[in-house]
Amino acid sequence: NIDACIFDLDGVICDTAKYHYLAWKRLSNELGFDFSIEDNERLKGVSRMDSLNILLEIGEKSLDEETKLELAAKKNSWYVEYISVMKQDEILPGVKDFILNLKENNIKIALGSASKNSMRILKALDIVDLFDCIVDGNRITKAKPSPEVFLKGAEELEVSPEKCVVFEDAAAGVEGAKNANMFAIGVGDASILKKADKIISGFENLTLEILKF
Ligand code: G6P
Ligand code: MG
Repeated sequence: NIDACIFDLDGVICDTAKYHYLAWKRLSNELGFDFSIEDNERLKGVSRMDSLNILLEIGEKSLDEETKLELAAKKNSWYVEYISVMKQDEILPGVKDFILNLKENNIKIALGSASKNSMRILKALDIVDLFDCIVDGNRITKAKPSPEVFLKGAEELEVSPEKCVVFEDAAAGVEGAKNANMFAIGVGDASILKKADKIISGFENLTLEILKF
């Protein structure tokens, strides 16, 4: 029996990867190199500073900590600008209905995201109230694949980890869920999300059967 479902945000509830990409690309261009959409795959589920380090590695730049903090802040200000115009139609197909269905069946809902912008995004999409608990990048000290973000969610919902299912689109997130001793449902490609217990391509027409393990 499953008591709670924990949802990642970026790539599971909405497609913010494209906005992250635009902002990182703008930064890389300013620094004098290019950043491709393929490179962007490496940043999914990765924290802001870790993403910057990967970007700088691609551009073969080494910079001091202070400059890095400035660049990360700059990227974030652009990103915030892009997501500020997000609308409800950017919720990925089926996920809202699926969550409503879970709630009707007394399954608790948490957000488990690395993003420090999650509140802003949930507000723009008008879905803050769907969540019984929100754990995001502002409340954790260790990035996925650490189980911290998911364990915090389970603790706040007062459910045991073995009764939680995590929905994740990033390999590090799936790994984090498994490290938390939870079930992991990968949203996307099985060849990337190797450690997931199950894989779905999206939430359209998904029933609660998926929670049977
Ligand atoms: C999610 C995204 C990452 C992003 C991270 C931090 O995990 O998948 O691409 O870097 O959140 O987001 P933030 O909004 O705090 O920069
Ligand atoms: Mg994600």
